[in-house]
Amino acid sequence: MVQGRILGGVLIGGALLLSGCSKPVPPAPTPQEALALRPADPRIASLYESACKACHSVAGTGAPLVHDHAAWDPRWKQGLPMLVDHVLQGYRGMPAGGQCLTCSPQDHQALIRFMADQPEPKP
Ligand code: HEC
Repeated sequence: MVQGRILGGVLIGGALLLSGCSKPVPPAPTPQEALALRPADPRIASLYESACKACHSVAGTGAPLVHDHAAWDPRWKQGLPMLVDHVLQGYRGMPAGGQCLTCSPQDHQALIRFMADQPEPKP
């Protein structure tokens, strides 16, 4: 008779390594993902699709790509009012108003929040 002996096998069960580091910058969307992204609100979505999307959903236009945190986060730090001003007045490669004649400043805020992937503040 052979007697088996179990020598304590230890499973270091770390399938998930949750890092405690500061939040990593999420990867930029792929070209297909960037084209498919649209705001949840249907009215804002139609403004986005008729104006901002042409430039902001295509990499290489010089416009910060929709949901690309690496491109948006430094701009977001200027504050939303400054960003809205830049859209209204035009900013370097971007035409004044971002080609949206009917957008109100609130619409621009919503569009920028969407593109920068910054959620609405809690009421
Ligand atoms: C004709 C192309 C074009 C359209 C249309 C366009 N943008 Fe832009 N946008 C740009 C480019 C190019 C830049 C980058 C300018 C730079 O930093 O050189 C930019 C930058 C921005 C910025 C960052 C400004 C800053 O201070 O860094 C915001 C915010 C923005 N766009 C919002 C919008 C919104 C909202 C719309 C739709 C209403 C829109 N854009 C439509 C081309 C466009």
